[in-house]
Amino acid sequence: MEKIILTGDRPTGKLHLGHYVGSLRRRVELQNSGEYDKIFVMIADAQALTDNADNPEKIRQNIIEVALDYLSVGLDPAKTTIFIQSQVPELTELAFYYMNLVTVSRVQRNPTVKTEIKMRNFEASIPVGFFCYPVSQASDITAFRATTVPVGEDQEPMIELTREIVNRFNHVYGPTLVEPEILLPSNAACLRLPGTDGKAKMSKSLGNCIYLSDTAKEVAKKVKSMYTDPLHLNISDPGHLEGNCPFIYLDAFCSEETFARHCSDFSSLQDLKDKYCAGGVGDGTVKKILISVLEEELAPIRARRAEYEKDIPAVFDILRKGSEEARKVAAATLDDVRRAMRINYFEDADLIAEQAKKYVK
Ligand code: TRP
Repeated sequence: MEKIILTGDRPTGKLHLGHYVGSLRRRVELQNSGEYDKIFVMIADAQALTDNADNPEKIRQNIIEVALDYLSVGLDPAKTTIFIQSQVPELTELAFYYMNLVTVSRVQRNPTVKTEIKMRNFEASIPVGFFCYPVSQASDITAFRATTVPVGEDQEPMIELTREIVNRFNHVYGPTLVEPEILLPSNAACLRLPGTDGKAKMSKSLGNCIYLSDTAKEVAKKVKSMYTDPLHLNISDPGHLEGNCPFIYLDAFCSEETFARHCSDFSSLQDLKDKYCAGGVGDGTVKKILISVLEEELAPIRARRAEYEKDIPAVFDILRKGSEEARKVAAATLDDVRRAMRINYFEDADLIAEQAKKYVK
């Protein structure tokens, strides 16, 4: 069986370091591993509209931001099909059929949807489209016959639902769809990178993000104001690593080999941690190392972004070509689905003959 990746992001803002360590960096590695036959990365504008119906302009403006972020981290349109969800209308039709295979109570139990309903104040009245987005996500995945979906842990319930839909569809209509596997980040620090304020998640609405498109100066400023250990008042005090952002970020960004390039005062990241905990290492020292580590990773991303920014129409062209390509693949799956459901009436000569016979007098 072919190995195929599909994943994507809602274009509601610029992408940040949480996206980077949680998924983007991995996607580029997977792309360059040569292990996958096809890779699709989707800008999920239709899904973004399910909770931004009154603000389509926000989504419209952020298509290019996300596209630039993708290209600048190293997604290569020669290897990866980058496309826009709404430009593949086949996905909507698939979702309409899948909705019949899912119960309302099943979606109500989805913990990610539950959290979002609370966050958006949808408790009193949930838009139907929003409620159905997990089903539409199953279309996104199955339309491309994806075997592998690299995403963050909050997306686990969606992949689980997709698997259920696939099983149910194949059971009812015959084997047609491919059951996908989730691919989670391997490192705990990457699973959910905290915001610079120490809150559980980096999130635009909390204003605690470092963006991939931030300048070196902005990154340094944000690192310098990062939440550390509130009990570590004097350099000589023993420090604590729990919830200490610069250390969590170092775990996410810095292997032991990388560490040696950025710091010669400590023999290893572990040595820095030990000495910090014992007392005698200031937060400023840790932050300085982190700034240097981040710069090494972000400088090439920034440079690539600057190149693509010079020709925005060319970026839209990449998205147009990707969307055309994606549409062909999704249309082929939709054909299979219609055939399996036997709603391909005009291709079904037997049906036509059989119906004609019924009416022969
Ligand atoms: N739900 C994802 C997010 O919020 C975006 C998304 C839409 C997606 N369809 C998908 C991710 C299919 C993986 C597979 O970022």
